[in-house]
Amino acid sequence: MDRVTVHTLQAMKERGEPIVVLTAYDYPTALLVDQSGVDMILVGDSLGMVVHGFENTLPVTMDMMILHCQAVRRGVRRALIVGDMPFMSYQLSLEEAKRNAARFLAEGGADAVKLEGGQHMAETVRALVEIGIAVQGHIGLTPQSVSAFGGFKTQGRTVEAARHLLDDARALEEAGVFSIVLEAIPARLATLISRSVRVPTIGIGAGAGCDGQVLVTHDLLGLFDRFRPKFVKQYADLAGTMREAFERYRQDVRSRAFPAPEHEFSIPDEVWTEIEAEFGGGSPQE
Ligand code: KIV
Repeated sequence: MDRVTVHTLQAMKERGEPIVVLTAYDYPTALLVDQSGVDMILVGDSLGMVVHGFENTLPVTMDMMILHCQAVRRGVRRALIVGDMPFMSYQLSLEEAKRNAARFLAEGGADAVKLEGGQHMAETVRALVEIGIAVQGHIGLTPQSVSAFGGFKTQGRTVEAARHLLDDARALEEAGVFSIVLEAIPARLATLISRSVRVPTIGIGAGAGCDGQVLVTHDLLGLFDRFRPKFVKQYADLAGTMREAFERYRQDVRSRAFPAPEHEFSIPDEVWTEIEAEFGGGSPQE
């Protein structure tokens, strides 16, 4: 089984074959996602919200990301793993950005990193690419800018904003990204951007004209309860399945239906006879 590389993804764009991307944050999910044949697995900082329950992605730290990346790495054999650089891990200086991006590859086992931002991040992208790190860009609704955006809002709805996004995509391509995530922008604009750059675009809430699609796995599985963005298609109701399983377990323990004899370990009769002779029959202490 050939591992997916940045060249595989570029060739897919050139063939017009849609690139399939999902997020994963732990070993069992990464194993199943990889076995399903997706091309890229994003260890997204969305884990701050869907796994750790934060309001947004801002509290996510490098150490959290590295730990989750390592777990994902152990489950993945084929897909390309992208580690998402968290808030303030790449904005302070080029040196910080290089040190943290390198940690994703050296400690986390990621194949590439993603960072948010367009033209203003081009210099950072260039610095990382120059030291041999594959970088994915991310423009449109960049969740780490939730404070400046005043919430999670669709981007690129005016001529000026659309022009800015096109310039962002071109600047990132020029700086050497291998791919660009387009989040929450009008479908027609995302199609135009996808046709304007040579590198593959990966859409989330950006319509069918992107070169690939990504969803947050917890959204796809129905495991995130707080809100469901318009662009999410839910493929399962795992929350319902889990709730029912937990409820049945609770009932079984209360009614002593669990554990049943098949869940118990036995002890040879002659050993038990000796134990009983020494300690009694296990009746409650007086
Ligand atoms: O953190 C994340 O999961 C992401 C995707 C939504 C693209 O950045």
